[in-house]
Amino acid sequence: MAVKSEPAQLFKDIMGSYPTGVTVVTTLDGNHKPIGLTVNSFASVSIDPLLVLWSIDKNAGSCEVFQKAEKFAVNILAGDQQEVCWTFASKSEQDRFSKHPWALSKNNLPVLENVFATFECKKIQQIDAGDHYILLGEVIDLNKNEQEPMLYFRRKVGNVPQEWE
Ligand SMILES: Cc1cc2nc3c(=O)[nH]c(=O)nc-3n(C[C@H](O)[C@H](O)[C@H](O)COP(=O)(O)O)c2cc1C
Repeated sequence: MAVKSEPAQLFKDIMGSYPTGVTVVTTLDGNHKPIGLTVNSFASVSIDPLLVLWSIDKNAGSCEVFQKAEKFAVNILAGDQQEVCWTFASKSEQDRFSKHPWALSKNNLPVLENVFATFECKKIQQIDAGDHYILLGEVIDLNKNEQEPMLYFRRKVGNVPQEWE
């Protein structure tokens, strides 16, 4: 039987049950301070050239920094990085980067350690989209580690089921 609800609530329910990976998107602010937030709106767009996108809530504390940023890094979390996911999503966490190891890349972007993979991107377009901005990036560097990626489903995060490996 179809679930009846307000369209916005139904939309949230549907998208909350749409399984995704989890990323932390990072950059440096104007004072060279690392900034980052948990993001699952990340998607691949094009192979030639290599393009990716993600969207940021206009009310996010870091929205202005990402609007001004010329580059960003997409850190695709590994299955065992649940704490990283919640730290970078927490409004009350003042110093997210002190909790988890990271380093500055040669492109001068903060990259998290022990992740599944990283895309470092040059921002090429910013699209006004309702209550979000879509940020389109061209991949300038990419890196993949040994870890398996994280899965997100109904507010829970974790490893890929063993039978899929
Ligand atoms: C699994 C997950 C996915 C999220 N995806 C996004 C997203 O795609 N875009 C976004 O703006 N916020 C997303 N959020 C919410 C932000 O991570 C959260 O609001 C964060 O505190 C924003 O940080 P800021 O206020 O410092 O910018 C997500 C949160 C979680 C837990």
